Amino acid sequence: MPDEGRETLHQLICGDSRDLSGIPPASVDLVVTSPPYPMIRMWDELFGRLNPEVGAALARQDGPVAFELMHAELEKVWAQLWRALKPGGWVCVNVGDATRRIGNSFRLYSNHTRITQSLLRLGFQALPLILWRKQTNAPNKFLGSGMLPAGAYVTLEHEYILVFRKAAGRKFAAPEETANRRASALFWEERNAWYSDAWDFKGVRQSLEATGSRERSAAFPFELAYRLVHMYSVRGDRVLDPFLGTGTTMFAAMAAGRHSIGIELEEALAERIGAEAAGVARLANGRIAERLEAHAAFMAAYEARKGAARHRNRRYGFPVVTSQETDLVLDLVREVAPESGGLYRVSYEPQPLPDP
Ligand SMILES: C[S@@+](CC[C@H](N)C(=O)[O-])C[C@H]1O[C@@H](n2cnc3c(N)ncnc32)[C@H](O)[C@@H]1O
Repeated sequence: MPDEGRETLHQLICGDSRDLSGIPPASVDLVVTSPPYPMIRMWDELFGRLNPEVGAALARQDGPVAFELMHAELEKVWAQLWRALKPGGWVCVNVGDATRRIGNSFRLYSNHTRITQSLLRLGFQALPLILWRKQTNAPNKFLGSGMLPAGAYVTLEHEYILVFRKAAGRKFAAPEETANRRASALFWEERNAWYSDAWDFKGVRQSLEATGSRERSAAFPFELAYRLVHMYSVRGDRVLDPFLGTGTTMFAAMAAGRHSIGIELEEALAERIGAEAAGVARLANGRIAERLEAHAAFMAAYEARKGAARHRNRRYGFPVVTSQETDLVLDLVREVAPESGGLYRVSYEPQPLPDP
């Protein structure tokens, strides 16, 4: 792919994603998002603002009705996604279930089941989901009757990444489409780990996570968005996050050479995203350096076991396991430049190919 002057655009919109009429129909390739989780206490106030009946239901201790009303607000956003997505486009929703005592009743509020029902009703096809096992700091794992059966409940230690597609699979027909798809390939060993249905991010450290501020903002890790963007889109695609929060999906799209649109209700977060965008080049290029290093280590062990690999990557000259990795390119970010109106322009280092 000729990469000279390659750029991507990222539009941050402060607004309410229950109305996405500003986004042209069938213009988005991938949605990566995480909504406020119904029945998790930290979101009660926000859902109460979206629909005052939520507050009334909670006040009269009617958990099931509050749960339904909260999901009714999220459903408005899911319906907007159907319109904005291209046929063959993907939706990845990170969500956790909630356990809560309301009045005398302690129960599970199964957000992942309820969201799956909503998207199926809208016409999306469900595809295999990912369980994201989270590190839990809870010193006490027992809920309920402790050591005494039969009144204890297991602890929720994982969240879901629900995966859906709008209609049948995408076609890559034109020669430039197939070339771009090949440039967007993953390493064989990454594919084996990333396409597993259980993810565990223990050991992944990001600057924000280290300070704990991501935990307080309910942000998902950069790695989660980074993988999903690489797995379900190709370079130059448009990624949408209707619940942008601290901007993680937008940063992952920047790092992966995709365009993006992010919508966030809370204006204060836009300022924070602006401040952190300056650090994306370091974050993105650091992750690429890690991937290249991990690949070199993997191939050294692979070749020691199996002998010389049969394929070499054309850009980097190093060995790869399959012919699908020979055109793989990793986009090094040169600059993230803020423009007016919440727009960010990202430029990339040229990736010259060696002479054939
Ligand atoms: C779970 S957080 C998303 C965190 C994000 N994935 C990150 O990494 O920072 C959900 C976000 O959705 C926003 N939100 C909730 N309802 C919204 C709506 N109707 N329109 C736009 N944003 C909304 C909240 O303000 C919150 O920042």
